[in-house]
Amino acid sequence: MPVKNINPSVHSVGVLDKDRKLFDELIPLPDGTSYNSYLIIGSEKNALIDTVYPAKKEEFIANIESLGLKKLDYIVCNHAEQDHSGSVSALLELYKEAKVVTNTKCKDLLVSMVNIPEDKIVVVKDNETLSLGDKTLEFHLTPWVHWPDTMMTYLKEDKILFSCDFLGAHIAADTLFMEDEAGVYKSAKRYYAEIMMPFRIHIKKYIDKIKNMNVNIIAPSHGQIYPNPQFILDAYKDWVSEDVKNEVIIVYVSMYDSTKKMVNYLAESLRNKGLTVKPFNLIEGDIGELAVDLVEASTVIIASPTVLSGAHPAVASVVFLINALRPKFKYAAIIGSYGWGGNMVDQIKGLLPNIKAEFLSPVLIKGCPKAKDFEALDSLVDEIIGRH
Ligand code: FEO
Repeated sequence: MPVKNINPSVHSVGVLDKDRKLFDELIPLPDGTSYNSYLIIGSEKNALIDTVYPAKKEEFIANIESLGLKKLDYIVCNHAEQDHSGSVSALLELYKEAKVVTNTKCKDLLVSMVNIPEDKIVVVKDNETLSLGDKTLEFHLTPWVHWPDTMMTYLKEDKILFSCDFLGAHIAADTLFMEDEAGVYKSAKRYYAEIMMPFRIHIKKYIDKIKNMNVNIIAPSHGQIYPNPQFILDAYKDWVSEDVKNEVIIVYVSMYDSTKKMVNYLAESLRNKGLTVKPFNLIEGDIGELAVDLVEASTVIIASPTVLSGAHPAVASVVFLINALRPKFKYAAIIGSYGWGGNMVDQIKGLLPNIKAEFLSPVLIKGCPKAKDFEALDSLVDEIIGRH
């Protein structure tokens, strides 16, 4: 991505990564991503907000050099994860006078993870300011959006908030500012689901904090810039609220169709009662799409065949992920089939210590479903309808 200007003093110098397929070797990136970095030229000093993934450092440095920068005073690190800090070392080689500006927790991680020398780092506290002459940076510590080190930087005179991971989206767009509201909403929701959802409680506080600041532009370190901050703040307010939608997600694997028949019957019965039902085949599906569905669903059904006396390993893996993501669903149930025994219900529940949902009656059947098994599923449908 070539350099673009937010205004005459604030330049976007980050890079797009259109070909990256996975983030953290876990999260599919259907739209690629970007590593945004912003160069602020003050009357006395200049400062760079965040850097980029190390694989993209040559393009990043070329962007900075294209501006004819004679010196770099500060590299602000809002977060130590390598997609933002991975080019700090290369910049320190190039701009010997530069200091890294960050908070205590981020300093610790920058030293241990990317080998930044301690004497290069200046530590700032919450609400502390740093003058660039005619521009002022104000630092706001926001632990746990995404790691304990995360913070935001506010450019006071221009009313621009550099929010780093927070409020971002994995999208590699050629335009700097958001234009396609529906498309960005979809990407931002997926990003929230995959990365931010576990920190819902912290996020509530930070949304209120931003609303009380005088912010005209939010410039995250992934995705596009929001010229209308209210758009993304309102979306986050919905996602982090306690409200859920009348939706049932059925996460399933089936080996010989017994579990699938149960899933199909349950889905059709619930739909006939007016509920929205989203079956999700774990073998074929994109876990990012599942994460999005989990943002606002009220009920999650986990459906598995029995393998070696327990849940199918693909089910166990996604249950582990659901526990880590901490979605806000209110009700859960476990259904499935076994051949000669097993302990799937306790096993799956044991993988969900973070989930506070009420577990409804499980339906475990022997072999393929028969009339009495469908009756048991009817009872589960009644239980779900009674709760919704
Ligand atoms: Fe974009 Fe937590 O790094």
